[in-house]
Order: sequence, then C-alpha cells, then structure tokens
Amino acid sequence: MKQGDLLYLGKAKSVYRTDKPDELLVVFRDDITAFDGQKKNVLAGKGGYNAKVTAYFYPLLEAAGIPTHFLAAVTPTAHLVRRLSMIPLEIIVRNRAAGSLVRNYGFAEGEPLSPPLIVMDLKDDSRHDPMINDEIILARGIAAAEELAEIKRLALAINAVLRENLAAKDLDLIDMKFEFGRDAAGMIRLGDEISMDSLRLWDHGAVGASLDKDVYRKELGDVMETYAMVAQRICGA
Ligand SMILES: Nc1ncnc2c1ncn2[C@@H]1O[C@H](COP(=O)(O)OP(=O)(O)O)[C@@H](O)[C@H]1O
Ligand SMILES: [Mg+2]
Repeated sequence: MKQGDLLYLGKAKSVYRTDKPDELLVVFRDDITAFDGQKKNVLAGKGGYNAKVTAYFYPLLEAAGIPTHFLAAVTPTAHLVRRLSMIPLEIIVRNRAAGSLVRNYGFAEGEPLSPPLIVMDLKDDSRHDPMINDEIILARGIAAAEELAEIKRLALAINAVLRENLAAKDLDLIDMKFEFGRDAAGMIRLGDEISMDSLRLWDHGAVGASLDKDVYRKELGDVMETYAMVAQRICGA
C-alpha cells in the first residue's frame, strides 16, 4: 500500500489516496479544534489516541453486523479505509441531554432520553453545520428516503454496541456523532472516526464528569492526560 496524493485536509485528519482507487489512508493528526475551528491547538500524541480508539471500535462494529469503512490500522496514526462518497450529514445520537440540547431546547443537563434521540446537522463549516431534518435532506437530494432510514437504523445500532461496551468500563455514553457514506456498490457504511473527539463520555454516575473533547472545549483539565486515560480504559495498553 502506497501513500499517494493528499485528497482532503480536514481539521483533525488528513486523507490520502493509495495505489487502489477505492482505498484511502486516513491519518489522525495532533490538531484539536473546537467552536467551528475558532479554538485550535496541537497536542502531541492526540492523533494516536483517537486512531487507537477508532481501530478498537470499528472491527467490533463489523462483528456486530455494521458495515464500516475500516480495513486496517497500518501505523499507530494511519488507517486504511474504503473510499466512501461521504453524505454531508453529522448524525448525532443522544442518550442523555447535554450541550446544545440543554442550551437551546430546555432539557436538564444529564436528563435521560429514552428512546435515544437522533439529531442531524448539515456538515458544512461555511454554514456552521446547521441542524437539518428529513424533509430538507430529501428536498436537497442529500440522501434518498431508504438511505436515510438505513443511516438512522445503523446509528441506533452503533449506539447500542458502544453504550454497552463503554458501560462495562464505567463510562457513560451521553451522545456521539457519526458520518456515513456510500461505498462503490452504493452500500451505506460508517466512515470517519469514533474517538474522544466524537463521543461525549462522562465518568459513570457523575453528571458532567467529562472524559472527552469537552475537557478541551470547556478547559476542564489536562486534555492529553484525559485522552490517554480514556484510551487506556476503552482499549487497554
Ligand atoms: N471513508 C472515507 N472516504 C472518504 N472520505 C472520508 C472517509 N471517512 C471520512 N472521510 C472524510 O474525511 C475527512 C476527515 O477529516 P476531518 O479532519 O475529520 O475533517 P473535517 O474538518 O471535515 O471534520 C472528513 O471530511 C470526512 O467526512
Ligand atoms: Mg471531522
């Protein structure tokens, strides 16, 4: 496998072509950003922790019957993945209220949401990722009705797997963000990452005991110490 041209430089990952047209190399960088990229830092080792947690969860999800883009971890910070045509949506599954749900919709911090809520944002930095709904998605042709139903089904199934796995490690999964895409055959697969940047985790039983990127957003403590400890708790070593 050869690292080819840079295809996409994101806020926290770089995506390269490989010698196969339908496979890409995703490199997890040490950049961390928040608030639409207004807050930015480089934290040595951060990319490695997120790559490790992602490489732990994707095979677990595949084993549970969930199609993902993941093929292999080729270095501690680089994953070989199937190239997807990404659907520009951030699919957020919420088990308990936090963040914008508390700020904008009157929920109490930590309030259980049963069944879990799915919230969708349009992934578009220039528009600040506005919340979107089924009607707008269909009207804009972002996804077909059957694709949207499949995305929601998969998002809830992934939440169930992650929630149970993390609960066994005394981590409460509050909410999470997923990105999906279509593979060469048109199948919907989970792309992107599952990491401390995309999960909202609280230490079991303590409302707001953040063990994720909120430590960076809200300056709650040493971000790298938190990422290292959580990666250790999730996948050991
Ligand atoms: N399997 C894949 N195929 C193609 N693009 C992908 C795949 N998985 C993730 N991506 C895209 O690669 C980029 C990853 O870099 P990231 O730093 O997260 O970018 P962003 O700043 O857009 O969030 C994202 O735009 C994501 O949608
Ligand atoms: Mg991203």
